[in-house]
Amino acid sequence: MRLRRKNVLVGISAGIAAYKIPVLIRLLKKEGAEVRVITTSEAQNFVTPLTLSTLSGNPVLSEFYDKNGSWNNHVELALWSDIFLLAPATLNTLAKMAHGICDNLLLATYFSMKKGKIYFAPAMDLDMYKHDSTTKNIQMLIKTGAVELPAQNGKLASGLSGFGRMMEPSEIIQKIIDHQLDNLPLKGQKCLVSAGPTYEPIDPVRYIGNYSSGKMGVAIANALFNKGASVTLVHGPIDKNLVLSGLELRPIQSAEEMQFAMEAEFDKADIVIMAAAVADYRPKNVGQEKMKKSKTEISLELVKNPDILLNLGKRKKSQILVGFALETQDEFENAKKKMIGKNLDFIVVNNPKNEGAGFEHNTNQVSIIFPNDKIKEVPKSQKSEIAEIIVDEIVALK
Ligand code: PMT
Repeated sequence: MRLRRKNVLVGISAGIAAYKIPVLIRLLKKEGAEVRVITTSEAQNFVTPLTLSTLSGNPVLSEFYDKNGSWNNHVELALWSDIFLLAPATLNTLAKMAHGICDNLLLATYFSMKKGKIYFAPAMDLDMYKHDSTTKNIQMLIKTGAVELPAQNGKLASGLSGFGRMMEPSEIIQKIIDHQLDNLPLKGQKCLVSAGPTYEPIDPVRYIGNYSSGKMGVAIANALFNKGASVTLVHGPIDKNLVLSGLELRPIQSAEEMQFAMEAEFDKADIVIMAAAVADYRPKNVGQEKMKKSKTEISLELVKNPDILLNLGKRKKSQILVGFALETQDEFENAKKKMIGKNLDFIVVNNPKNEGAGFEHNTNQVSIIFPNDKIKEVPKSQKSEIAEIIVDEIVALK
């Protein structure tokens, strides 16, 4: 599932290699991609829309308007695409891409692409492929940032042999995956994340804790990992099934243990995020034996725990340091004070009084506050979506 949650738009132009695209779509789906297909009208002579829509699970688009009069929005398609794969890319389509000719939906979508990556797999006869103008067009496209998946040597539909065969679907997919991994924005970055509650022992069977499930911190750790970072997750008691395999785990129980684990990793880290709900106080004396319930009233003497994030902020060198603030009143003022006091690059504030926000839920509702007073409001969304927005803000700081 190496293309999990990737939106892949497959653009098919009219070449005999189009007959291989149903296999390519199957492989993309197997890798977890969401797939949509655009064809030129001629391409449908080589592969049927029925096959393509059945395998992709989406209608196949070819014209600007459908028979029922609805408009196929090329801008929306381009914005949707994380990857636009043009395969097969014929001489005609490549030439139009290189020279700004926009006479079908596939090309209009190509010219509307914004942040998605473009890959093209040329397929044509050998003399067409080695023609000067094709070479120049391909070079022009590469200069714009598109990635060529070069044609291969072999038997061609014309009966001739040479370079011009479209790369095999399995190789196309492998090349895209390799390229995506090499170009992840946080590749090579070391991240340190804290998640979950701390448990402060009273005696061998009791503790002071809080309702944190760790879902928010784990979602952030996973999102950083998906962007190519290596991630160490220091966590209190959490559901480990939520954590992607590949993350380094440092389980702890108490705030002092969390502090020790965070400080041990801090100097090596490029990015540090504290999403844990650290208990502010712990029992002064921890009973060696189970406390007897003979008295009707008891008092627990509590002492203050270290403020882990405050200390990390003091030690900060080149790290990006991000904290959370859990506030039930005067959210912005309180969060801003924490951001400044703890030397943070930004702070994420959430209010558990808002429906579906804070502890335990799969959702949260946050505001991201920056030192220049910019505030980004994120409405109630899945914690995984919020984590991606937070990680995008970190990427933007890099
Ligand atoms: O785990 P979930 O169920 O998904 O819930 C998510 C969450 C509500 C725990 C999370 O979104 C969140 O708000 N985490 C921070 C909770 C908190 O302790 O906030 P605070 O405002 O008390 O602390 C401010 C910052 O200082 C936090 O980054 C905290 O991790 C850190 N801190 C706090 C106390 C302390 N002794 N040491 C710290 O490092």
